[in-house]
Amino acid sequence: MTKLALAAKSVSMTFGNVKVLHDVDLSIGQGEIHGLVGENGSGKSTLVKILGGIHTPDSGSEVRLHGNAMNLPVRDPQQHGLAIVHQDLALVESMSVADNTGISTGYERPLTAPISSRREAEVVGKLCEQFGFALDPHRLVGTLSPAERTVVAILRALRQLGDGDQRKVIILDEPTAALPRGESLRLLELLRTMAGNGTAVLYISHHMNEVLSVCDRISVLRNGKIVATRESSSASEAEIVELMLGYEIGEFYPDKPESSDKVVRLDVNRMTHGPVSELSFQARQGEIVGITGLTGMGQDDVPYLLAGGRTRLSGEVTVDGVATDGEPRSAKQLGMQLVPGNRQRDALWLGGSASENLTLPFLKDFWRRWRLRRATEHGFSDSALHDFGVRPLRPSLEITKFSGGNQQKVVMARALRQRPGVLLLHEPTQGVDVGAKKEILNVVRQAATDGAAVVVFSSDAEEVAQLCNRVHVMRYGSISATLTGSEVSEDRILTLSQQSSVVE
Ligand SMILES: Nc1ncnc2c1ncn2[C@@H]1O[C@H](COP(=O)(O)OP(=O)(O)OP(=O)(O)O)[C@@H](O)[C@H]1O
Ligand SMILES: [Mg+2]
Repeated sequence: MTKLALAAKSVSMTFGNVKVLHDVDLSIGQGEIHGLVGENGSGKSTLVKILGGIHTPDSGSEVRLHGNAMNLPVRDPQQHGLAIVHQDLALVESMSVADNTGISTGYERPLTAPISSRREAEVVGKLCEQFGFALDPHRLVGTLSPAERTVVAILRALRQLGDGDQRKVIILDEPTAALPRGESLRLLELLRTMAGNGTAVLYISHHMNEVLSVCDRISVLRNGKIVATRESSSASEAEIVELMLGYEIGEFYPDKPESSDKVVRLDVNRMTHGPVSELSFQARQGEIVGITGLTGMGQDDVPYLLAGGRTRLSGEVTVDGVATDGEPRSAKQLGMQLVPGNRQRDALWLGGSASENLTLPFLKDFWRRWRLRRATEHGFSDSALHDFGVRPLRPSLEITKFSGGNQQKVVMARALRQRPGVLLLHEPTQGVDVGAKKEILNVVRQAATDGAAVVVFSSDAEEVAQLCNRVHVMRYGSISATLTGSEVSEDRILTLSQQSSVVE
């Protein structure tokens, strides 16, 4: 038996009067990659936050690092060789890549010397080189894509661990949620190398194929309890998913809509701005169009140029024949709804409750005789939360207290309750568990059936292939290939995306 690097024993956590973790036992050996899976809200991040000292667990809980019982809450986990990539990344937008990695580890300098940004950039540049990440250390985090932000958080964790020979543990809470496939594969390889050198890894993900391929063992959390720990070599995806959900998931993807020859609802004509260059495409009533490509090919900018308030340099966009200027207000008036990829930054009012977040666009409907009718408002939120399977079903709970996947469902519910004519979805199932993913995809399918033109901007080739009846692959800002009907497949999408990187 290898030595234990990290052990949680009888860890419980209660928020107010709600117990979200029940006597969790979890142990990871040195050099082991241990997967932790579970539905949205099952308690994965809460456990991570306890291990990182952010939450104090209930009394009776025990956390051991390298055999030593820690005082709780855990203090300075870094001192004990424990680094964490948290789900919300916790980066400072207004600081550079290098400063974000240095801020928590201490900068590279003699005690009294000032911080040298040149030296800092060198240190981070070397780390990037060593681990195969391409990222300019001087760039401001605020200007980075979700994938690049994840890399910064990973670099920070690697820098925290240092290269001494101290025993190490790294915890990653959904690190690949925003990463494209190529980068996810690289990260998984990196984890294998680290484990090979004796580092213990706790790996959280909703991508079952990743978990099964990279982990030695997998623990399943359901409603705050560990219901099973299995060797990956003898477990199947269906078995793990059933353990997670408590039921068999069956056929996962909804039927695709028929190719539509109905009216064009969204017409994009030679749109140009930043990485997007002369982009033209259309979306018709009742169809689901996918737009994908390798990182940096411009597809992540498109939804924001259409409806997110970013001004376009040139080109024309019409919704149902009426020109839009890209301002959120006019986009909305024309029936265009955007569900952004970075929900916390772009789609939620973090100071508000789930109900407040849901009803913001409808508040005027709840005013009667100079008063906001709270009961009507709550009735509306109750039914929306219920229809979209948001858990817990508590409209008055602060939105930040919902798990990531459930926050995403709230954002989707708000967009769909406005009955959009054009629905733009940027990475709609990022960070969403398999059960909820199925629910969300069904909702998207239903929106198309109800007559919306849906455009999905996603780096998940499988999702795009299974959901869309037309897929455009972008390369250097415009469309390089289009697949329709039976041509649409995950393999074809991946091949076409890869091809776009070698040319030029
Ligand atoms: N500060 C808090 N106060 C009250 N409840 C909370 C708080 N933080 C989390 N919760 C609740 O604890 C439960 C577990 O949440 P947690 O974030 O750990 O889930 P998760 O497994 O990480 O989900 P996801 O896959 O969506 O990230 C949820 O029901 C959540 O609403
Ligand atoms: Mg989580």
